[in-house]
Amino acid sequence: MKSQTQKNMEEKIFINRLILGDNLSQMKKMESESVDLIYLDPPFFSNRNYEVIWGDEGEVRSFQDRFSGGVEHYIAWLKERVLEMHRILKPTGSIYLHCDYHADAYIRVNILDKIFGAENFRNHIIWCYSGPSNGNMKMFPKKHDSIFWYSKSKNYMFNNDKIRIPYKELHSDKGVKSIIFGSNGILQNESMRKEYIERGKLPFDWWDDFPSGGHISPKERIGYPTQKPEALLERIIKASSNEGDIVFDPFCGGGTTLAVAVKLNRRWIGIDQSVAAIAVTEARLRGNRSVDFNKIRSTQKIKGRAIDANLFNPDSVVFTVEKYKYDYEELRYSEAFEFESFIVQQDGGYSNSKQRGDNGIDGHYPDRTPIQVKRSEKIVRDVVDRFRTAVERDLGKVEFQKCIEEKRRCGTIIAFSFGKGIIEEVARLKNQDGIIIDLKRVDEIVSIAKRPNVSINIEKAEKMEKGGKSFWRLEFSAHAGDSSIELFQWEVDVDEKSSGERVLNDRGGIYSFDFSEGEHKVCVKAITSDGITGEEVLKFHVNGKVEVEEKKEGRKV
Ligand SMILES: C[S@@+](CC[C@H](N)C(=O)[O-])C[C@H]1O[C@@H](n2cnc3c(N)ncnc32)[C@H](O)[C@@H]1O
Repeated sequence: MKSQTQKNMEEKIFINRLILGDNLSQMKKMESESVDLIYLDPPFFSNRNYEVIWGDEGEVRSFQDRFSGGVEHYIAWLKERVLEMHRILKPTGSIYLHCDYHADAYIRVNILDKIFGAENFRNHIIWCYSGPSNGNMKMFPKKHDSIFWYSKSKNYMFNNDKIRIPYKELHSDKGVKSIIFGSNGILQNESMRKEYIERGKLPFDWWDDFPSGGHISPKERIGYPTQKPEALLERIIKASSNEGDIVFDPFCGGGTTLAVAVKLNRRWIGIDQSVAAIAVTEARLRGNRSVDFNKIRSTQKIKGRAIDANLFNPDSVVFTVEKYKYDYEELRYSEAFEFESFIVQQDGGYSNSKQRGDNGIDGHYPDRTPIQVKRSEKIVRDVVDRFRTAVERDLGKVEFQKCIEEKRRCGTIIAFSFGKGIIEEVARLKNQDGIIIDLKRVDEIVSIAKRPNVSINIEKAEKMEKGGKSFWRLEFSAHAGDSSIELFQWEVDVDEKSSGERVLNDRGGIYSFDFSEGEHKVCVKAITSDGITGEEVLKFHVNGKVEVEEKKEGRKV
């Protein structure tokens, strides 16, 4: 929960953060000079369909933002974000901005030179790749991206020994082995050769040793065209940060930078405006790497096979996921003291450092006004009487009296909702005794939303045969009432071995799977456009027929 993050930030304990939101507004909340390395891979200025990767509300909004004008508009959109990045970056830090021919010249001259200074330009890295091209085109096929590396100052880090690569050895016609240095190839004597081979060489500023989108190994592939290879991020992160440093990706997409940061023992912060991107990244970081990307893009049913990926399984990646709105149930049933401190801080107050009895004071506004937070609905009249006593004790008789004389508020009670009795009592205290007590609802302080109510149905069940084996093909549909759902995530216990490792994403809420005889479980999570998740589990038994268990008892298909 965010309160934990804030508490930890206050105590200077860093917890990795995955944030749903527009990076501009999110970065404005971040501390200056707080991150060591920034890698950004913003949508390029191509105005092409593939720029919309996830196709959800947040991303489409961002797409429209960028393209409501020409390239100047795009540059202005990016520039205000890079300005924030400059503020957030530590003086020893570096930024790597990934782009392509559509806007690279504008970005270097009009953004990076202006904000970071031409003197802090370190490299223009060319990432070359290959891929299909049209043999009849009247130009050379464009097969590279640009990555601009700038440091914030002259005092920057470059861990050259961490990124060395082997020299290429050439065998000449006469059987002489040589090592290539730069482009002119110098033959070395045997002892030097050994020394150089052991040490390895620095990669040049053109990189051709990483696969691009379609060629990324199935192990790490999430399946969308602009996914970057982990090896590329590995080189950048190793070169310009150390273990324990904070790596920040403000356009984190499917979470490549964050996944690599985890592997390399860096701390991280990632932001993306798309609910789907955050959901996919969250699953990836939790070690669930199966994503059927086609299904994310389409609202129709697509038969595509899920891409199975098991890149790594971090045992303990601790991170918070921060959404647009707060989940009502998560807040309402969270640990009482944590909830109270969180709400007090969100309302601009200071929470008590120690937990007290429920009738006590949970915090103060900066002007010392006492605050009491209740985690319940429909607070009743008695609460106000006890609060009045607590306030008098907390402020002292003299100050309490002064509040009344000066017609100032004596205290504030915060709760999810208030009953009629307490509202009447607060009005009576004000009118008869001049005691002003504020009643404030939690939703006046933080935006909250209720979880979608999810249900799963089996739409079709068909017994099938393949290669002499019989199995059941079931089609499921997920529903979430009136909630506007950005993404459904399915976890299907297809067989015992894959249980819990597969997360399949789709937009349409329909999925088909094959089952052998036995007990099975299908879990679906529905994520709203606010990022709030509702969940439902369906257990069933396949044994000559399909029998749904538990909640939908006795229902037979
Ligand atoms: C090219 S992708 C990043 C891909 C990423 N490097 C990876 O390998 O997975 C760009 C991402 O920027 C996100 N995005 C676009 N505008 C944004 C904004 N204003 N704030 C935050 N994220 C944004 C998109 O949703 C998309 O996921």
